Amino acid sequence: MALKMDNITDTLTITQPDDWHLHVRTGTILKTVIAHTAQQFARAIIMPNLKPPVTTVEHALVYRNEILAALPEDSDFQPLMTLYLTGNTRAEEIKKVAESQQVFAFKLYPAGATTNSDDGVANIEAAYPIFAAMENHNVPLLIHGEVTHADYDIFDREKAFIDNHLTEITRQFPALRIVFEHLTTQDAVQFVESASDNVGATITPQHLLYNRNAILAGGIRPHFYCLPILKREHHRQALLTAATSGNPKFFLGTDSAPHLSHLKESACGCAGCYSAHAALELYAEAFEKADALDKLEGFASFHGADFYGLPRNTGTVTLEKRAWTVPMQYGETDNLITPLRAGEQLHWQFVNH
Ligand code: DOR
Ligand code: ZN
Repeated sequence: MALKMDNITDTLTITQPDDWHLHVRTGTILKTVIAHTAQQFARAIIMPNLKPPVTTVEHALVYRNEILAALPEDSDFQPLMTLYLTGNTRAEEIKKVAESQQVFAFKLYPAGATTNSDDGVANIEAAYPIFAAMENHNVPLLIHGEVTHADYDIFDREKAFIDNHLTEITRQFPALRIVFEHLTTQDAVQFVESASDNVGATITPQHLLYNRNAILAGGIRPHFYCLPILKREHHRQALLTAATSGNPKFFLGTDSAPHLSHLKESACGCAGCYSAHAALELYAEAFEKADALDKLEGFASFHGADFYGLPRNTGTVTLEKRAWTVPMQYGETDNLITPLRAGEQLHWQFVNH
């Protein structure tokens, strides 16, 4: 255990963490954002919702090479690839994933749930034979847990997904390893806590730090709009309690999701918060406010690796208690991204080696 807290200099040193839920896109944006992630994290689960989506091992390997080529020199960051589940996913592809050293899981997007999810699964029950194949081959299923039907209030969609789908999936496939991604409600926390050890969950920094007022109070703030949407304060409290509990089912997944600033600051802004520029700082702030900095290392550096059956990292990273102001934007002209907390202060700072 590397956790070291030095109260005199106010530094925090933990085993190097991993990000178990990350969007990096392609092209110019990829170069900007991967440098941020690779600075803090040893590995990250790379989400496959590109256009077109990453549906085959072959495509995932091409995408992996693009990510490796975009890394800063000397980086030994490892992208852990995933495939996008569609109504057409074949059992042979599951076997290929099981045999791959580079592809680690499938991601289930209910069709229409979020950014680039149009090719997702429209009929979840029709995918049961595929879930059975994943269970047999011990391939994890990563789930965006929201129903998509317009009749459901956007704030109720996660709970409805648990009631309508997830409870039954875990009953039918008890040995299937499931990551319930980016939890946003107390209902989801309770579901994960009472499920078997095959069910884990990621929690983002924005859902630990903000409730839905951040999007709507005092004006519409598109940079706080992500899916699943921020919820009421009591849900945020439940997430914070879960993340800081030491329960190994809960682990770090930023869901850092870059979009060009003008596409978020629009009459129909897209969903996603960009947090890779200060991921650990944001989590440290949330854990510190809960008086639980001693629980950050398990959440950030151990629980996810253990769940995926991967070795824990051996290096360390250090944060210092030092105020800094987050830039208004990152990236190159015509490819600018507005980060979470743009123009505001953060009180922890990652120390560059
Ligand atoms: O807010 C989100 N943005 N939620 C998702 O599920 C996808 C992500 C993205 O890719 O932009
Ligand atoms: Zn995501």
